Amino acid sequence: KSVALAFSGGLDTTVCVPLLEEEYDYDEVIGVTVDVGQPEEEFAEAEETAEALNLEHYVVDAKDAFAEQCLDAVKANATYQGYPLGTALARPVIAEAILDVAKKNDCDAVAHGCTGKGNDQLRFEAVWRASDLEVIAPVRELGLTREWEMEYADDHDLPVEGGNEGVWSIDTNLWSRSVEGGNLEDPGYVPPEEIYEWTTKPGAETELVEIEFEGGKPVAIDGESYDAVELIEYLNEFAGKHGVGRTDLMEDRMLGLKVRENYEHPAATTLLNAHQALEGLVLTKEERSSKTGIDQQWAEKAYEGLLSAPLVNALDGFINTTQEKVTGTVTVKFEGGQARPVARESEYAVYSEDAASFNTETVGKIEQADATGVAKYHGYQARLANNE
Ligand code: ARG
Ligand code: SIN
Repeated sequence: KSVALAFSGGLDTTVCVPLLEEEYDYDEVIGVTVDVGQPEEEFAEAEETAEALNLEHYVVDAKDAFAEQCLDAVKANATYQGYPLGTALARPVIAEAILDVAKKNDCDAVAHGCTGKGNDQLRFEAVWRASDLEVIAPVRELGLTREWEMEYADDHDLPVEGGNEGVWSIDTNLWSRSVEGGNLEDPGYVPPEEIYEWTTKPGAETELVEIEFEGGKPVAIDGESYDAVELIEYLNEFAGKHGVGRTDLMEDRMLGLKVRENYEHPAATTLLNAHQALEGLVLTKEERSSKTGIDQQWAEKAYEGLLSAPLVNALDGFINTTQEKVTGTVTVKFEGGQARPVARESEYAVYSEDAASFNTETVGKIEQADATGVAKYHGYQARLANNE
């Protein structure tokens, strides 16, 4: 019997390898690491750990597909409780890639190292349970804790690094870096500066950057075109050095548990701010207010790892129609740890400077005085109700 395991080389997935053999009787375990933009060191760690475990190991590149997914999330202004959904968007992409490897290798099962408390188990399994393969979740099924895992790793001489492993649980991809666990589990604990790797304390300098959008998708920065991966990487570095994109929040997980989460997401914050600024220029008032509700539903399905749900097709219909006009440029000012849109331009602007200006008398053929009738009616029902 053989099983394909989602493998990062971290503590959870490392202990899963012997456990799948000992506790689940698999003769062959295949480790699969999917590249969604983790830092280089993580692949080296995964390689090394796999080698030390004598594990057959595959690395699958899903960076481009994932980056496109992130830019789709920008069209939907997608955040969940303030979190731009990096982990959530990546999981289905990773799950698909692992399933692919499992099928090509005639595996009988797929496995992950997620706990029974989190979201990731649900996101992986939503993809995997559509197949005939058996799904195994050793950490959840055997009721493991990180402490138990560390002791087990020690007893079995498993190759787990000292370092931060075991202190914090970190998940990094192109779109965000998440840090949880350890002291951070206490919502009253102030995170030390050292948990941050992508963002520095904001300095005093100010910089302007012009981001160009085409149909809701960012395509160029300061006049230079980038593909999705490059564009996100560029902004993570640029905005990160301005201290942009840190969040510290209480997050309501799918199961209902509240957890304290810390995130870094410089590119996501920058692009979401810029995109929203451009929508403010080109969408009508009612398109904007409807879209707020649609966007929120999209973000919730993304959080659940269920962008495959039929509802999302319908939401995408609305979102994509509105995005046809989201073409133009936004200038973003980086200052004091913020990425603040300060100028926007578009050929689709629903805006007439002439009409809105305090310096002109008419709005098209309508004169200022024509508003008098509207002003007389405005609040009429409230006055009646209040007997005024
Ligand atoms: N809570 C976030 C989510 O559900 C991120 C979890 C990331 N995992 C981690 N081990 N740090 O999307
Ligand atoms: C886990 O519990 O395995 C990681 C966090 C999550 O899935 O939300």
